[in-house]
Amino acid sequence: MKGLVLSGGKGSRLYPITYTNAKQLVPVANKPVLFRVIEAIRDAGITDIGVVIGDTGPQIKEAVGDGSRWGVKITYIQQEAPLGLAHAVKISRDYLGDERFVMFLGDNVIEGGIVPLIRQFAESDWNCQIVLTEVEEPQHYGVAELDEAGRIVRLIEKPKDPPSNLALVGIYMFDHHVFEAVENIKPSWRGELEITDAIQWLIDAGYRVYPYIHRGWWIDTGKPIDMLEANNRVLEELEPRNEGYISPDSEVKGRVVIERDAQIINSVIRGPAIIGEETRVINAYVGPYTSIYHHCLIERCEIEHCIVLEHSRIVDVPIRIEDSLIGRNVEITRSQTKPRAYKMTLGDNSKVGLL
Ligand code: TTP
Repeated sequence: MKGLVLSGGKGSRLYPITYTNAKQLVPVANKPVLFRVIEAIRDAGITDIGVVIGDTGPQIKEAVGDGSRWGVKITYIQQEAPLGLAHAVKISRDYLGDERFVMFLGDNVIEGGIVPLIRQFAESDWNCQIVLTEVEEPQHYGVAELDEAGRIVRLIEKPKDPPSNLALVGIYMFDHHVFEAVENIKPSWRGELEITDAIQWLIDAGYRVYPYIHRGWWIDTGKPIDMLEANNRVLEELEPRNEGYISPDSEVKGRVVIERDAQIINSVIRGPAIIGEETRVINAYVGPYTSIYHHCLIERCEIEHCIVLEHSRIVDVPIRIEDSLIGRNVEITRSQTKPRAYKMTLGDNSKVGLL
């Protein structure tokens, strides 16, 4: 089997973080989501992985390379525009050939990996298998309707009257018949070739389409709140370790990872939390569910339930920072000079909550 990871797209729901950077490279517990996806596929025994890229392709290539770091072979497939998930399949035909493959959205995080579902599909004679999970508000998702035999008979995008509570997770397995489907469907009202239309085409053409019901958590990191939620879940599973320096007057409690050459000076860290390489935490409090990426400075401030990206500096902030996604090279400081005023350089679509 081969793997196909979708890593193009616009990422507009994560603006401004994704104006200049690929959303799949935003880290969850200090590891880009895309790396987690590649590891999940590798752990299922698949070493030949195609990565579909768009405008952010150069960054993705630089971060991922040829895949040798994970013991896999990566082939990049350029998509000229985000024309839909089924379009991504269409342009990957030469790469995929006649092999069965798993397609994984590069911005999804799933508990427990994909070993069982890959095994089930590999041992079956099904033409397509899609991963579903039970959700509380199916009207906000793509939903599947099953018959008594457990076969999928219909897919409906955001149904007003959902036929089940089984939503589509961003993981799909196909054989080569999917190429017939993507050649035969038309773009939807939003101008995209929809993967749900391609799967519905397979069903209507009489191909065998079955579900895999995923029982653990699953998070699509499309919006900042989802990013924080994914971060919470992954942090809860971290093995604590310390590869940095903790000064004797600091207190580090709970599930905490201190990465290489990080320094914790006269500070309190309450896990679950992760402090990235060469980051310094000085006279500060880092509370639960916080990930600080590499080369940051957190000084004389309190921060909790946040993701802070690389090379950012948060210094002398009088009020605790919570529930925030803070981008790269951001500076949040207190001005020493009068008149006292907020001075900000904020990108388009930034959000700041002031007291
Ligand atoms: P989406 O989250 O559906 O789309 P998006 O990334 O453009 O984000 P937004 O809605 O915030 O603008 O995409 C799911 C995944 O598939 C994501 O990793 C991007 C990828 N993708 C492609 O590679 N090609 C495409 O044509 C589309 C639509 C998405």
